Amino acid sequence: MSDDVQYPDHFVERLEILWGAGFLSPGGPDEVRQIVEGLELAGRSVLDVGCGNGGPTIVLAGDLGAGEVVGIDIEPQLLDRARGHVARAGLETRIAFQAVTPGPLPASTWSSARTRWSTSRTRPASSARRGVSSSPAAISR
Ligand SMILES: C[S@@+](CC[C@H](N)C(=O)[O-])C[C@H]1O[C@@H](n2cnc3c(N)ncnc32)[C@H](O)[C@@H]1O
Repeated sequence: MSDDVQYPDHFVERLEILWGAGFLSPGGPDEVRQIVEGLELAGRSVLDVGCGNGGPTIVLAGDLGAGEVVGIDIEPQLLDRARGHVARAGLETRIAFQAVTPGPLPASTWSSARTRWSTSRTRPASSARRGVSSSPAAISR
């Protein structure tokens, strides 16, 4: 496994015991709902930046009814785990994941882009924070 991996499986397993299946950070579904409070997401397309192992992504598509959610993350092994959670939630048709390199957000048109606990990681000499940390928690048009 590369030295660049910040979330190896054994660490993720411990974090999920602490914060719940699919979550790498505290707060759980309630905090996801707070972050997007006031946004009407039903049927909209949402980009989840730094989606990790997919807990928040599932809340966006499941509880909050987003029509399509694309989760992006720089650690592909997290996305494998996220796909398992999504399959168990029966949301495969509305959630897709994409491994990215740090940099500008994927070109597309999004109703909303949101991020949760995902802007702290900076890679010197990379564009890790460009296009992510400059994004507010939620953008809606
Ligand atoms: C603290 S975890 C939060 C994961 C998830 N949002 C949650 O709330 O459980 C931060 C996540 O952001 C990802 N990340 C860090 N920098 C990123 C970047 N530049 N682009 C995309 N994902 C990034 C990490 O790999 C990690 O999965």
